[in-house]
Amino acid sequence: MRRTILPAVAKPKTIYACTACGAQHPKWLGRCNECGKWGSLEEEVVASGGAGRAGLDAIPGEARDLLGFGSPARVDSDKVRTLGEIEPGNVERFSSGISELDRVLGGGFVPGSVVLLGGEPGVGKSTLALQLAAQIDATTVREGGGERSVLYISGEESPEQVRLRAERLEDDGRGVAILAETRVESFANAWKELQPKLVVVDSVQTLQTSRVESSPGSVSQVRESASLLAATAKLHNTTLVLVGHVTKDGNLAGPRVLEHLVDVVLGFEGDRNHAFRLLRASKNRFGSTQEVGVFSMGDRGLEVVENPSELFLAEHRDGAPGSCVIPLLEGSRPMLVEIQALVAAATYGTPRRTTIGIDDGRVALMLAVLDRRTPVDLVSRDVYVNVAGGVRVNEPAADLGVALAIASSALDVALPAGSAACGEVGLGGEVRRVSRLDLRVRELARLGYSTLLVPPGTKVQLKSRASEKTRLVEVDNIANAVAWLRDG
Ligand code: TYD
Ligand code: MG
Repeated sequence: MRRTILPAVAKPKTIYACTACGAQHPKWLGRCNECGKWGSLEEEVVASGGAGRAGLDAIPGEARDLLGFGSPARVDSDKVRTLGEIEPGNVERFSSGISELDRVLGGGFVPGSVVLLGGEPGVGKSTLALQLAAQIDATTVREGGGERSVLYISGEESPEQVRLRAERLEDDGRGVAILAETRVESFANAWKELQPKLVVVDSVQTLQTSRVESSPGSVSQVRESASLLAATAKLHNTTLVLVGHVTKDGNLAGPRVLEHLVDVVLGFEGDRNHAFRLLRASKNRFGSTQEVGVFSMGDRGLEVVENPSELFLAEHRDGAPGSCVIPLLEGSRPMLVEIQALVAAATYGTPRRTTIGIDDGRVALMLAVLDRRTPVDLVSRDVYVNVAGGVRVNEPAADLGVALAIASSALDVALPAGSAACGEVGLGGEVRRVSRLDLRVRELARLGYSTLLVPPGTKVQLKSRASEKTRLVEVDNIANAVAWLRDG
């Protein structure tokens, strides 16, 4: 038998990439082996040969600089130093012109750093990016640093659309250089010519590069394009802001696989139906991840909110049953929010328990504790719990306030004017301590709250640091808290 010898022709290869973690699999699987996510694998065709594998390790040693300025020189062994020989030095920074953003970044942008701004569609990422671009442009011009210091690359909207949005803003960003483009290679000339201080890319999901042959929007396109841009930013000391969409479960190609590539990951959160927005850092190589930025979305774009408590309590009225103010802590920032509860007779079947802005499990726990440990009767009654202002409460420190709001509605007794509650409630009905009560008490005192229900031992713990303006009432269990509510 004669065997036919086929010439070695490079065939395009199909791989399956996970949209959540970026892992690549030779076969399709219902569940990703790496991260365990179901239904996250997507088919991708990669060119065989040179760039056989899409990804960071595909082209070892090759210059990954977009502008082709060459790869960094090899590091000789005499360049290796011990940590002790290195001067710590200060990180150079420049302000973004938006105080709340500077706070989250740790004091401003670091030149050459790459920042990923993620969030659900419609939350206001493009607005923040544009305001930031306009601010930096205005500051640079004012300081005589030349025009066109900011390059805004829009892959989703036309320059006219961006201009329309800019018209609404306080600072209309006249001097911002804009380019509607999605091919990474095409940015090269603009970037080279302008040598901008800041490059904004909105959004990273639209990027594509000819280095990878898979379709635009696929994991390898997004990752490869972003890594090219990141390398370019580093080499030219340009700050790069990448905007990326994430769905509720963080399940879109892009943001998740980019996290290791960038220096700072910012998440923009908020309910579309409310004005309030929170900016958090989930990763920051140059600062803390404890700080949060608070914004409010208005007719003229995003406004910084220096005192969030005032915003959340604007519509709060003392003397209404079913309402309790609690001091929350976001990072190191205290903010007062109002918990509202409504207990009503169940009309039919199983009583409804509905919560907005707070975990239902946590509320169910409070209902069970109230039922067993206090005289509050919740059997066959509907319970609705809502956090006013579109805030999301995740802290156990809210427990006592939630329980009191429910009890207050069930008993139809309002909390005394100017009172608030703070404490975790255990299954035995005991009230437990929470972190940083000093910060919370100070915020309450600042806003004129006169009474705060607290866990036992708080007075000793706070000693002189406690404010004289706010009276602390220690309650050791939920039954005593309800008794205080009834009898004052
Ligand atoms: P956008 O920044 O486009 O969101 P993203 O880029 O995250 O998808 O803006 C989202 C919403 O903000 C949009 O529904 C309109 C609203 N908005 C205002 O309320 N006021 C404003 O001044 C602007 C510019 C937008
Ligand atoms: Mg957008």
